[in-house]
Amino acid sequence: MSLEWTPDLSVGDETLDEQHKRLLKEVNLLVEVTEQKGANDELVEGILKFLDSYIAEHLTYEEHYMREHDYPDVERHKVIHDGFRSAYKEFRERFDKHGSVVALTKAARDFLGEWWIDHIVMEDQKYHRYIEEHEKTKVHS
Ligand SMILES: [Fe+2]
Ligand SMILES: [Fe+2]
Repeated sequence: MSLEWTPDLSVGDETLDEQHKRLLKEVNLLVEVTEQKGANDELVEGILKFLDSYIAEHLTYEEHYMREHDYPDVERHKVIHDGFRSAYKEFRERFDKHGSVVALTKAARDFLGEWWIDHIVMEDQKYHRYIEEHEKTKVHS
């Protein structure tokens, strides 16, 4: 499974696209690092610390963006984000408790990597389509 950002993942906003790219890049790095033999706990910790704040920042920014563009389904989208927020918290606590990169390898790929790709493809594309349509009608009316 590829965790690469590709242009078809674009949500039509430069800032959000940059955030998605960076998120996938860091998750990729995390997967790579955790899959190395004798992976470095400190390096993993560093990536996770970065992800902690970057993920929080992105989700909040995106919710704000959807509200700003009057996306009608923002609350449902926020519920999905909240679900991820608590799953991520659990994932982090597990790492803090066991501090083991081995335990993290599969979780990093399955949970973090797949969640982000799926979410961008399935959910983020919904506000992308709505906003694109909406702005078009605005211009023509
Ligand atoms: Fe997003
Ligand atoms: Fe989202």
